[in-house]
Amino acid sequence: MKRITLVAAATLALAAGSALAQPAADKVKVGLMLPYSGTYAALGTAIENGFRLYMQENGGKLGGKTVEFFKVDDESDPAKAVENANKLVKRDNVDVLVGTVHSGVVMAMAKVAKDNNTLLIVPNAGADAVTGPMCGPNIFRTSFSNWQPAYAMGVVAAEQQKHKTAVTITWKYAAGEESVKGFKEGFEAKGGKVVKELNLPFPGVEFQALLTEIASTRPDAVYAFFAGGGAVKFVKDYDASGLKARIPLYGPGFLTDGTLEAQGSSAAGMLTTLHYADELNNPVDRQFRLAYAKTFKLQPDVYAVQGYDAAQLLAAGLNAVKGDLSKRDALVKGMESARLNSPRGTWTLSKAHNPVQDIYLRKVDGNANKLVGVAAKQLADPARGCRM
Ligand code: PHB
Repeated sequence: MKRITLVAAATLALAAGSALAQPAADKVKVGLMLPYSGTYAALGTAIENGFRLYMQENGGKLGGKTVEFFKVDDESDPAKAVENANKLVKRDNVDVLVGTVHSGVVMAMAKVAKDNNTLLIVPNAGADAVTGPMCGPNIFRTSFSNWQPAYAMGVVAAEQQKHKTAVTITWKYAAGEESVKGFKEGFEAKGGKVVKELNLPFPGVEFQALLTEIASTRPDAVYAFFAGGGAVKFVKDYDASGLKARIPLYGPGFLTDGTLEAQGSSAAGMLTTLHYADELNNPVDRQFRLAYAKTFKLQPDVYAVQGYDAAQLLAAGLNAVKGDLSKRDALVKGMESARLNSPRGTWTLSKAHNPVQDIYLRKVDGNANKLVGVAAKQLADPARGCRM
């Protein structure tokens, strides 16, 4: 009896000893906080698919480590965001938070990440503040700031399309408001004038009264920020109201990305600006699109690209420290100096940890957002308020 106990104790000690000898476990715990329900559900899924595709191409690992996933459906609900982020950080003890889509939710994630010094990689939400006043060494973004595609669209609408007046329409929350602000900045800098700013609560789709107001205002152009399910409905309603034939509709590319099959002919010919386009035709993109379609039986979109790049950025950090997560400063340096071979084209991070990237002008042709040209070359977010 005594012998058995001793042997058991020795075995336990050995097991504990070997665990202690390997503080850098061969696993990295990744917390995915994304919308899997609601108007942005498809966006969350595309981000996760992209992330998994990058792993699949690298032997199912990231920087030599296996990945353990913890997932939360954030429902794009800012009211639940702190609690949801805390589930991943405090309960599951993740090494890295990856998320999310909604700008209001990401602000809470950034706060939780800051308070706990947890690494955060944002694969969509454009909230300017995340790489502005809230910027920090542990906070990275692989997508865009709300300002980036919006500003580029404003310049195109005034300078290239020669519009003088515009009405804007969006959901009333950070992403929509910042997108409109960015558009206005570009449009008015080139001589245009935003004559009316319309909005409705997120994620509402009761557009009729607002469309009537656009019709009576008769601007030269309309700029809209909507995405996911809401973008499908808006573009169809805009067409059905008869406005499409009279007043051209523009937006950041979210208005027509991942939505074209559902929008059908209502989106035909629309011009949008974004850091991705269909048929970019670079080698990374060609192979990414083939592999994505084969694996998920879906066409990839900008959200899938951003998820793919989130995995790629994390791998760059892990590779720099040979998987040792305790070497945080070196890991951050590895991420900061990464050159990402993205389907969107090669990009690097600004000092504020936001992508410096080409913003493309795209035109809807069938089920594709076809490349027209580069609207803004290597555009960096101004990162107003970031001190790092
Ligand atoms: C955002 O809330 O920042 C947001 C959401 C969906 C998009 C783009 C931005 O497609």
